[in-house]
Amino acid sequence: LSQIEVKLSDIPEGKNMTFKWRGKPLFVRHRTEKEIAAEAEVNVAELRDPQHDMDRVLNPKWIIVLGVCTHLGCVPIANAGDYGGYYCPCHGSHYDASGRIRKGPAPLNLEVPYYEFADDDNVIVG
Ligand code: FES
Repeated sequence: LSQIEVKLSDIPEGKNMTFKWRGKPLFVRHRTEKEIAAEAEVNVAELRDPQHDMDRVLNPKWIIVLGVCTHLGCVPIANAGDYGGYYCPCHGSHYDASGRIRKGPAPLNLEVPYYEFADDDNVIVG
């Protein structure tokens, strides 16, 4: 299927859920207020792949990224690593709760796919 619809109320605050989309893992994460505030404050100039959190989300409550490490394509683990976002165990890449690379060999942030909110409770990815 080229599109997937995700029901957001199924994902509790602070949790990441993994879906399969176009043969790849898709992460949908319901961020906490604390995570939203922390990611908004990150100094973009210090990032390897400089992107403001605001440019990676449509609604700061939800971060939606491909679960494919930009190093060699392993699937990162959610809510892990030094930055509390995602951790790739293959070679130790640490991503923040915006999916931005912060430490380790991966060159780029986790990819944000095209998506839109169908309504308050549903997002369509693809
Ligand atoms: Fe993720 Fe190498 S594939 S760190």
